[in-house]
Amino acid sequence: MTKENPIGVFDSGLGGLTVLKQLIKLMPHEDFIYLGDTAGVPYGTRSKETVTKFAFEDANFLLDKKVKCIVIACNTASALAGNALKKKLGVPIFDVITPAIDEARKISKTGKIGVIGTRGTIESGAYKVSYSQSCPLFVPFIEEDEIDTPALKLIAKKYLDPFKKKKIDTLIMGCTHYPIIQNIIESEVDYRVKLIDPGKAAAKQVYEYLKVNSMLNSQNLVGKSTYFVTDFTERFTRMAEIFLGQKLQDKITKVDL
Ligand code: DGL
Repeated sequence: MTKENPIGVFDSGLGGLTVLKQLIKLMPHEDFIYLGDTAGVPYGTRSKETVTKFAFEDANFLLDKKVKCIVIACNTASALAGNALKKKLGVPIFDVITPAIDEARKISKTGKIGVIGTRGTIESGAYKVSYSQSCPLFVPFIEEDEIDTPALKLIAKKYLDPFKKKKIDTLIMGCTHYPIIQNIIESEVDYRVKLIDPGKAAAKQVYEYLKVNSMLNSQNLVGKSTYFVTDFTERFTRMAEIFLGQKLQDKITKVDL
């Protein structure tokens, strides 16, 4: 494996592009291969056994593409399959949960940290913080582009109100999709609460690791991203660009795992 090899990133679907966005921002000179398991999405409602099986298929696809490391962009896959992947695979594996917790502990003054995520992530207990809340309706709302609607605001209020009584000072957005609705989340918690984006925290960790291990690509190069999905419909391109926050560099290719 050389430092010119790409970085592999996978998620249950397109939401993980919010993590790819942070990785590209910090490492524009790297090549990335993104796999969204859009035929398997959502992972957040599935069992540990199924998510683990899917996660190994996703990771093996990336290994076939000769990636130098793998970022599990999906919080649910990180929670349910992260340890198994780290034990079994021969390249460095990064999850999004460990760096998010580290970052939250660093910035919290009171130690009262909350996390929101899918049912799978929250019930796994992988986020070892003071308070947690699953928000199962956020993902379908965001995927249906119901982003700035009164209905979503109402749901956000219901999910986030309990954090006010707990007096948290830091909240981890423990799901790929949540940074898209950061302003709504912000408006439903105390204005002093600091929000953590696990994608950002993970990107920093990956960068540090590659730097220390002399695995960063040459800073003179401009990186390229390639996108694969396991199921494709026309609306994916638009959705993908919402999550990535920019135009796709390449078309999305459908693959069978
Ligand atoms: N990518 C998932 C996560 O971050 C959200 C979507 C899903 O349920 O698959 O937990």
